[in-house]
Amino acid sequence: EKGGYDYFMLKEIAEQPKAVADTLLGRIDASGALSLDEVRISPSELREVDKVVVVACGTAFHAGLIAKYAIEHWTRIPCEVELASEFRYRDPILDARTLVIAISQSGETMDTLMALRHAREQGARVLAVCNTNGSTIPRESDAVLYTHAGPEVAVASTKAFLTQLVACYLVALYLGQVRGTKWGDEIQAVVRDLSRISCEVERVLETMEPVRELARSLAGKNTVLFLGRHVGYPVALEGALKLKELAYMHAEGFAAGELKHGPIALIEEDLPVVVVVPSPRGRSVLHDKIVSNIQEIRARGARTIVIAEEGDEAVVPYADHLIRIPATPTLLQPLVATVPLQVFACELATARGNEVDQPRNLAKSVTVE
Ligand code: F6R
Repeated sequence: EKGGYDYFMLKEIAEQPKAVADTLLGRIDASGALSLDEVRISPSELREVDKVVVVACGTAFHAGLIAKYAIEHWTRIPCEVELASEFRYRDPILDARTLVIAISQSGETMDTLMALRHAREQGARVLAVCNTNGSTIPRESDAVLYTHAGPEVAVASTKAFLTQLVACYLVALYLGQVRGTKWGDEIQAVVRDLSRISCEVERVLETMEPVRELARSLAGKNTVLFLGRHVGYPVALEGALKLKELAYMHAEGFAAGELKHGPIALIEEDLPVVVVVPSPRGRSVLHDKIVSNIQEIRARGARTIVIAEEGDEAVVPYADHLIRIPATPTLLQPLVATVPLQVFACELATARGNEVDQPRNLAKSVTVE
């Protein structure tokens, strides 16, 4: 069942290149155009959309946070992301031109289901991004885009997360395509990069031994912090969530720009801080800012664990540990940057003697509040 792996989680981490490729399969044609006819919302309806609201819980919420950057950048449609448990008890402003995207691996999460019912009652159209065929959330939605991760058994979500990201990118690109916004060279380049990304995920998996070693050496620590900017910020949140649920350690993710507004007070001698560094190409201002953040925390004693693109030399002097990831366009970076964080959390959990596939107090599918 576990295919030779000690845990389902390890197997599912290893399956990510295939899960990503399967989720793209048949959805991009030879000319680089997207075909998402299966979602059953007509292009004319999609042209009417004037607001996108993403609702989800946990890891799926982190996928939604990343989706916002892509949707707003590629489509220029305003996008909000909200925890389903908050959204459902609020009085959100929605109408028939609002597209609500409900992201859920299981398709059975109670809060996400209630949030989509709440949205539909107000006339919004709901698109489910879901991994489980025929589950309740897609059944109650107007449309569905399935992620093709295959069954995810480990409680901690890994391959489902990567495929949720892929599905969100596809939705964003498709919206851009049908509306004609930014449909040109930039988008074509992104589509090409997306088609190749599963090979990059594979390459990351081949270089994880130093990450495992590092994780084992930190097994006695109590706290690990995670910093990121832009799409690296939700990646930091996801890294922290994985560590909480698997290693039972105090772990927090922060937007690096928030450091001076409080979190920097937490930095003390030898505190491990994982930093997700954006590409130095493209939006290089983001990169330069985070390099100074790394300098700031290191000057205060932090042990810096830096996740940076191959060829990024600027980070080298400030990295106590350097984890390399392949170069990707900024918006796609979460697909490669999350993988080392999954491996890190899984190995730390093992080193601490925790049950990897069944962390204490957690259930795979949260069908109660
Ligand atoms: C974290 C994790 C949970 C789920 C959350 C939503 O590793 O697995 O945070 O992401 O419970 O579940 P779904 O996606 O099934 O709605």
